[in-house]
Amino acid sequence: MPLPKAELHLHIEGTLEPELAFELAARNGVTLPYASTEELRRAYLFTDLQSFLDLYYGLMAVLRTEQDFADLADAYLARAAEQGVRHAEIFFDPQAHMARGVSMETVVGGLSRALATSEERFGISTLLIMCFLRDQSAESAMETLKAAEPYLNRITGVGLDSAEVGHPPAKFREVYEEAGRLGLRKVAHAGEEGPPAYITEALDVLKVERIDHGLTAMQDPAVVERLVRDQVPLTLCPLSNVRLRAIDILEEHPLREMMAAGLLCTVNSDDPSYFGGYVGDTFHAVQEALGLDHEALRTLARNSFRASFLEDDEERRAR
Ligand code: HPA
Ligand code: ZN
Repeated sequence: MPLPKAELHLHIEGTLEPELAFELAARNGVTLPYASTEELRRAYLFTDLQSFLDLYYGLMAVLRTEQDFADLADAYLARAAEQGVRHAEIFFDPQAHMARGVSMETVVGGLSRALATSEERFGISTLLIMCFLRDQSAESAMETLKAAEPYLNRITGVGLDSAEVGHPPAKFREVYEEAGRLGLRKVAHAGEEGPPAYITEALDVLKVERIDHGLTAMQDPAVVERLVRDQVPLTLCPLSNVRLRAIDILEEHPLREMMAAGLLCTVNSDDPSYFGGYVGDTFHAVQEALGLDHEALRTLARNSFRASFLEDDEERRAR
């Protein structure tokens, strides 16, 4: 039995497995620039975040209808259930779909249709977090927030993803202020490839409640001290860090040092189809590579519920 856990850093578009991509391509009459699933998998050799994002956005061309988004979410939930996931806070990237003529209604409608029955079918409670693409303008993010207003009963929070370096959090100050006025929770990717100053800025300017990644915090003791003092959760994604070359090998991941420093660490899969494992696989991989004992794994699992946006009593029931 895998440890019960919550997954807090998971891009639904990053769960698109090559087999489903080809199935959806056939269904929608989309031609992929790969002859087979094997050829597509062979393209998963990334040199940095941008090289991954180019493929990730490209492959989204197969996602067109509400049914496609429902099928994508169903496939993730089935996998996640096998990996011990009891609660998932799921990112989606509406701007990447709206730019292709796929409406907010199609995206949110399809995802939320699958999520609505997730508890009965898979024993997984879910929340949706809408991400803004930080390499697009603040105006575009604000328009996206406006487009989401009719669906806010199905969206719990906002996040910030895509190419980090050169796109500091402060660019999105007004958007996050507006999200706060609308009652949305706030998270942001920071310190994946970007400097530790971006982590501080996400906290001070965007008022986020969690930092997605936060890996580069370790470069600045003052940032670590702040994160420890305020017990700001970090949603680390160790397999992603290796695949996107933020670190060379998993054995060199600073997770152990981060936990020892008192940081509130969680372990997540990010884009499991592309990075070689779902969240249970990720727990297993860090256990092996870093020699974590069972107590450390239990701490990580406990942290995942503690860092989640579940209400306290729901949180207790999930465990
Ligand atoms: N980092 C930033 N943006 C992303 C990622 C990531 O790992 N995955 C999907 N969008
Ligand atoms: Zn991410």
